[in-house]
Amino acid sequence: MRHLISPLDFSVEELDKLLALAGDIEKNPQKYAHVCDDKRLATLFYEPSTRTRLSFEAAMMNLGGKVLGFSSADSSSAAKGESVADTIRVVSCYADIAAMRHPKEGAALVASMASSIPVINAGDGGHQHPTQTLTDLLTIHSLKGRLGDMTIGLCGDLKFGRTVHSLIEALVRYANVRFYLISPEELRVPSWIREDVLEKNHIEYKEVERLEDALPELDILYMTRVQKERFFNEEDYVRMKDFYILDMPKLELAKKDMYILHPLPRVNEIAVEVDSDPRAAYFRQAQYGVYVRMALILTLLEVKLPC
Ligand code: NCD
Repeated sequence: MRHLISPLDFSVEELDKLLALAGDIEKNPQKYAHVCDDKRLATLFYEPSTRTRLSFEAAMMNLGGKVLGFSSADSSSAAKGESVADTIRVVSCYADIAAMRHPKEGAALVASMASSIPVINAGDGGHQHPTQTLTDLLTIHSLKGRLGDMTIGLCGDLKFGRTVHSLIEALVRYANVRFYLISPEELRVPSWIREDVLEKNHIEYKEVERLEDALPELDILYMTRVQKERFFNEEDYVRMKDFYILDMPKLELAKKDMYILHPLPRVNEIAVEVDSDPRAAYFRQAQYGVYVRMALILTLLEVKLPC
């Protein structure tokens, strides 16, 4: 039985297959409409979510399956003090696969060790978010036709942004990928990303504070929101929250074939005027999230694929 806890749980070859499957699902959705008729997905969300939870649920429904679950810690037995290990043991009796989001780092890993069904990490604190990474890889591949040979700028809250950590970890496995890490001093990537991921793999990267210094060189700009819920005090958040605002004058500096991604939700970091620029890809990215989660469910459940 397999789980998806970290973006490295799939090899590059397995990822290629998964992205190809997601591509086929996009082209031929009807072919997959009943492949999970007898399956159930449990969504165990201890933290707020719109896209991740609903895209998982939509993905399972598109495959003909059913969904059950909860969308906040207070509506589950966590409020009574139940551990994630006990919860997943019980959920294993009700569902065939589970997606879990939790504010504690490592929660999905702990759950997977007690589970008799595949567990998907749908975000564990400020640590990892591997299914957003699958979404991001499918988006980049669909827009650019490749995952290597490019300069990627990640901008905003690189310290607490779990989507950033997982995306960097996944992308360093492709040839000739360079990074601009664009953040205020206080929100730089954690040292495990710098040392164990970037330096260990001899990846070229620059840490800069001004978005304008990186923009002209980028093939992909990955914007992120300042992660309010991970700050210890409100004052620091207020000081940081509008540090970056991508607007049309700044976008003038970018290449014509650069694409802007954002895991969403957006707060102020991308001006609404940018949405109509052809380079804005964040809403398309949310759509890709459904195809890739369909492909992931099929892969982890080892469903026999229609020919
Ligand atoms: C992200 C998350 O939850 O980490 N959202 C998402 O899943 N699309 C990013 C964020 O909340 O800023």
